[in-house]
Amino acid sequence: MREGRGRAFGKIILSGEHAAVFGVPALAAGIDRCADAVATSADEDAVIFASSPAEPPSRELTEALRRVRRVLAIEQAYRVTLSTDLPAAAGLGCSAALGVAASRALLAAEAREGRPPDVLEAAHAWETVFHGNPSGVDATVAALGGVVSFVRGERPEAITLPQPLRFVVGHTGQGSSTKSMVEGVARLRARSPEMVDRTFEAIRSVSRNLRLALEAGDTKAIGQLLDMNQMLLAGLFVSTTEIESLCRLARAAGALGAKLTGAGGGGCVIALCEDGDTAAGAVESAWTQAGFSCFSTTIGAVKDAPVPPPAPSPTS
Ligand code: PMV
Repeated sequence: MREGRGRAFGKIILSGEHAAVFGVPALAAGIDRCADAVATSADEDAVIFASSPAEPPSRELTEALRRVRRVLAIEQAYRVTLSTDLPAAAGLGCSAALGVAASRALLAAEAREGRPPDVLEAAHAWETVFHGNPSGVDATVAALGGVVSFVRGERPEAITLPQPLRFVVGHTGQGSSTKSMVEGVARLRARSPEMVDRTFEAIRSVSRNLRLALEAGDTKAIGQLLDMNQMLLAGLFVSTTEIESLCRLARAAGALGAKLTGAGGGGCVIALCEDGDTAAGAVESAWTQAGFSCFSTTIGAVKDAPVPPPAPSPTS
């Protein structure tokens, strides 16, 4: 029996979601929440979750696994057991992190090196099952970690921060489908091309200036640019009442800036806070009191750790 393990991190998008699908630069960062996969050689492909081992294997995930095997030219079938502390359909890159973790687990089981280009291509194939037309930003950050400047079809660039940045991530409590949100923006663009393209150009400027602010460690400017990006996303109709409440509550509690992360229509909001526990604590308690769940995370300090600590073998 062959067995391998893989791990990958979730992400937050600092700027450029939706516009990234049309080639505008996006900035995204790995967070310290992750997905793990254990791959065991088997007679046929199957993907299950460690949290619900009795459930039948998911058809979509098993199809995604087949696509990954095809990209990696692996003939052996595998049973893959997944686990994650990332909420699904929340803009935190859960599905891409699972894809990267599964790809790494297969490569480890085959005693092959998990080189980033292979892992990226495999995770992209995994993502196409769920997202139709993914830009690749989620898979890229899940595979590389750190803070990344991403342009569709181009080599991603790592960005070095002078100091880590503290964010609080709040959940609207509503899931959303990236695929249908992306399709919604495409429909809006077909109806109002000038308006949408002008918005994308404004988002391009936000990404350009945000990269400079990140590299300079100018937290005030970073916060303002996050707010600006949120306004532009609202103009694309991907914000919701809950997202706007989370942003408003965070700013009132002292956050430097706040925006949705990912496709919107639900999912999560990120709020940038001054360093230390006091500012993040104020945002956390404002959100918790309003009934939203949240957690704190730091970007720019995450190190990619492809191999998780030993865990018990899966049951099959
Ligand atoms: O998968 P999500 O919800 O984190 O969204 C990814 C970012 C989008 O720009 C909305 C889609 C894409 O493929 O770039």
